[in-house]
Amino acid sequence: MESIRNNLMKRLLCYAFLLPFTSCGLFVADAKSTADKRDININGQKLYMQYCASCHGVGLEGGLAPSLMDTIWTYGDSDESILRAISVGIETVGMPGFSDSLSVDNQKDILDFIKAGAPLETVDPITDVPSVSDRVHIQTHIENLEEPWAITFVPNSNVLLITEKNGTLIRIEGEKRDKISGIPIVNSKGQGGLFDVAVDPEYESNGWVYLIFADPLGKKSMTKLVRGKISNTDWVEEQVLFQARAEDYSSSKHHYGGRITFDAFGHLYFSIGDRGDKDMAQDINVPNGKIHRINRDGSIPKTNPFLNSPYPSIYAYGNRNPQGLIVHPQTQTLWETEHGPKGGDELNKIEMGKNYGWPVISYGRNYSGTELTPYTAKPGMEQPESQWTPSIAVCGLDIYTGDLFPEWKGRLLAGALRNQTIRLIDVSEDRYQSESILLSGEGRVRDVTTGPDGAIYVALPNKIIRLSPKL
Ligand code: HEC
Repeated sequence: MESIRNNLMKRLLCYAFLLPFTSCGLFVADAKSTADKRDININGQKLYMQYCASCHGVGLEGGLAPSLMDTIWTYGDSDESILRAISVGIETVGMPGFSDSLSVDNQKDILDFIKAGAPLETVDPITDVPSVSDRVHIQTHIENLEEPWAITFVPNSNVLLITEKNGTLIRIEGEKRDKISGIPIVNSKGQGGLFDVAVDPEYESNGWVYLIFADPLGKKSMTKLVRGKISNTDWVEEQVLFQARAEDYSSSKHHYGGRITFDAFGHLYFSIGDRGDKDMAQDINVPNGKIHRINRDGSIPKTNPFLNSPYPSIYAYGNRNPQGLIVHPQTQTLWETEHGPKGGDELNKIEMGKNYGWPVISYGRNYSGTELTPYTAKPGMEQPESQWTPSIAVCGLDIYTGDLFPEWKGRLLAGALRNQTIRLIDVSEDRYQSESILLSGEGRVRDVTTGPDGAIYVALPNKIIRLSPKL
């Protein structure tokens, strides 16, 4: 709890006292050049986000200070009174003056922005997605599978590892297909099962393979992470890397998360969903609704943000059901996709210690259609990089790193279950730029990965397909 409070305090200090922008991750407003592209004053909006949003709310809705979008102006609604409030402040009540940090022109831009009537700095849903699927040739690669959940190639080999939801780990090598025996028993009821499989970045020298799954405990279960080695067709030398306390196992059968990825600095990241108990996503004393970070041997990195939590592996929080997680090899950015409720599936850039807002802010609604939360944005909570409403049911995320489609190198490949698509997402300059549909109508996409041959491999409900350029 303490670290959350510290974190919050730090943010507030950053905003309120305008500590060096770089350490607060704030951006400096650029020139007015873009101002006439939209009705709202863009420079005013940027400055507002930078100087005012922490207290008055990202969408002017209020928070630590009054709403600036209602019709109540305690200190006067004329331009002069508002400008006076901005420049001199209202010291007795904690409204700082900004005459030292903002020029008169900048203050007027902010006034324009406020007066324009509170456009939310929120992410627009993606519409009109173009398709590039006519450029892709589809071949069946492996058939007769039962709900494959994850696919991973062993580097510098033609070995493919596949998990099936029911608890089977399969190794494919050329024509040979082996079932690995001795892996952990999983609870495969509901959304439970054997989830991701990942091979160590130094697999060739150490042989470690990682599995994440729904671990049964009586009638309850919880996401658990182990590593082990495959010797012939046996699972051996197993080590437990993450296991929740018995009291944190849950009888719910959904929202397990269950993805694994590695960065270039020896860390392993994994995801756990809120297990259907949404408020737990905001509580750093429980593992639910979090992105976790450990060293590959299970030890805790000393720089993790919540070292006093019973779960010091927590790296970021406020995530609903993260089913896509991947470190971008060029930028080391940790990209995540998570299921929203009805609407509000998110693409997030996960940063250490940050709060992604579930269930306090969301673009989604309850499945019944009733309002889940009135907020899509709040100070201290991260906005998604983009969001899909209606939900596409995101699942499985990778980066295209091959040579067969050179112009797609570095783009995200995001699978979708209900929508039965793969989204090819341009994240150049480390931001969401645009997306197109790479595959559509072949079935629910559970996982997607780049193969060693540069083709894209996709896990569908009962098979793996291979995508290569159409000649
Ligand atoms: C540290 C928190 C904080 C920051 C940062 C902040 N304000 Fe305020 N602001 C307040 C508080 C507190 C009040 C008055 C509360 C009260 O007495 O009702 C206030 C009042 C105001 C009012 C008067 C509202 C009314 O109802 O008459 C305006 C206008 C205003 N702020 C604009 C801004 C602008 C523009 C910025 C950014 C340049 C900003 N504030 C930054 C805390 C803040």
